[in-house]
Amino acid sequence: MSSYGSWLAVLVAAWLGGLPVLAQQGSADVAQPDNWDAEVAIPPARDIDPDPRVLEVDLEAYVKPMEIVPGKMTAVWTYNGQLPGPLLKLNAGDRLIVHFRNSLPVPTSIHWHGLRIPNAMDGVPGFTQAPIEPGGEFTYDFIVPDAGTFWYHPHYDSAAQVGYGLYGPLVVNDPGEPAAFGDELVLLLSDMSLDAEGQLQEPKSGGRFGDLFGREGSVLLVNGQVLPTLKVRQGKQQRWRVINAARTRYYTLRYRRSPLVLLGGDGGLAAESRTVDEIKIVPGQRLDFVFTPPDAPGTAGKLRWYPTDRGYGSTYNRLAEDIMHIVTVDDPAVVPVTIPRQLRDIAPLDTTGAHEELLDLTIGSDEHQDVSMGINGVHHKRAVPIMAKVGETQVWTVRNDTDFSHPFHLHGFFFQILSPAGVPEWRDTVDVPLHAEVKLAVRFDERPGMWMYHCHILDHAEVGMMGHLHVMPGD
Ligand code: C2O
Ligand code: CU
Repeated sequence: MSSYGSWLAVLVAAWLGGLPVLAQQGSADVAQPDNWDAEVAIPPARDIDPDPRVLEVDLEAYVKPMEIVPGKMTAVWTYNGQLPGPLLKLNAGDRLIVHFRNSLPVPTSIHWHGLRIPNAMDGVPGFTQAPIEPGGEFTYDFIVPDAGTFWYHPHYDSAAQVGYGLYGPLVVNDPGEPAAFGDELVLLLSDMSLDAEGQLQEPKSGGRFGDLFGREGSVLLVNGQVLPTLKVRQGKQQRWRVINAARTRYYTLRYRRSPLVLLGGDGGLAAESRTVDEIKIVPGQRLDFVFTPPDAPGTAGKLRWYPTDRGYGSTYNRLAEDIMHIVTVDDPAVVPVTIPRQLRDIAPLDTTGAHEELLDLTIGSDEHQDVSMGINGVHHKRAVPIMAKVGETQVWTVRNDTDFSHPFHLHGFFFQILSPAGVPEWRDTVDVPLHAEVKLAVRFDERPGMWMYHCHILDHAEVGMMGHLHVMPGD
């Protein structure tokens, strides 16, 4: 490290507080504690293709009994018998081939959340492919174009199937990116609704109120586990790629009040890093952090979930919950590496003369007095698509005058958020808080076809809060 670099590192160490200023080694030179992530890491899928630029895997969805809560067996819906499904890890520009087999009792599909891939690979039954019937197979085959943190899940009866355990992480690295962000750890957050016997609750439990509020699971999971343990060393940084795969739950996570450096999220690095003191993440979204363990050697603490206000009843009478043990090992502290502020150039999309659309997220009721949601008052079964042309940029105002927040997700394309203003970054999921609106710009770069956009509270999407976008070939 240059003398300028070590001087900065000492400053950061002092600023983090509690770190001995005379720590001898720089963080970059030492390893994580032995077996630091052994209890949490998500095992990768087996690559059956020797070509380093191709990840070719077999993926099978099937029900497997698992011990989620001690002493009880739960019939979890899994990919390859794993919860979450296997980690798929590639470099930008690599090819992913997935030989998928459906061994569930019902039809399914796989949607590659956030990936800018051809429409035929998007995994939406009825629009981009036929449902994959029980016993059926489908091969997904595409290039992963962008670095970032992504995930995969069914797009068939998705509130039920995601709620039962069908989700997995997909990480795309940029080989040119500095390695100085620390050793990577994927933290996939989800929850599950179990009854007293450990059995999965009916997907429609709670009836109309469940539809309206969305169904939050009773058991909080980190990488499929209740309260796993992560080992850290004071000052030795880890890069946490956080994915919210819960069907409804919003997360606010804190580890004491220790600062985290936010690098970006959905579509990779943001233009600049920011220091924050909590992780706030909505369903479907991803965030990318550098965590600098702040505690003295030999201490133990917990990462905690805090209730997040997303509308009526979401914080009332609810308590914080522990979700992961963080054990700081006895090894002496190391000096953390300074994370640069400038991360990447992201040019703002040119929106001069852009066609504008208003998407009003709406809640009503149908002729049976059941909850019916929609966009501009229209249930997705009756939706008329927004029209666009390859090469066109549009500006969408997503308005929410309902009493609940809705995490808005667009398939197939990244967008930039115009307001509320923030650090420039590429996103595919954004929270639209109750009685607020978000303006975004999106460019339909290529890949014509019929694409979905919807609320990622999957219970809301299920009762209609979803619309369609028809991207026509350019001239
Ligand atoms: Cu992650 Cu259409 O969804
Ligand atoms: Cu919603």
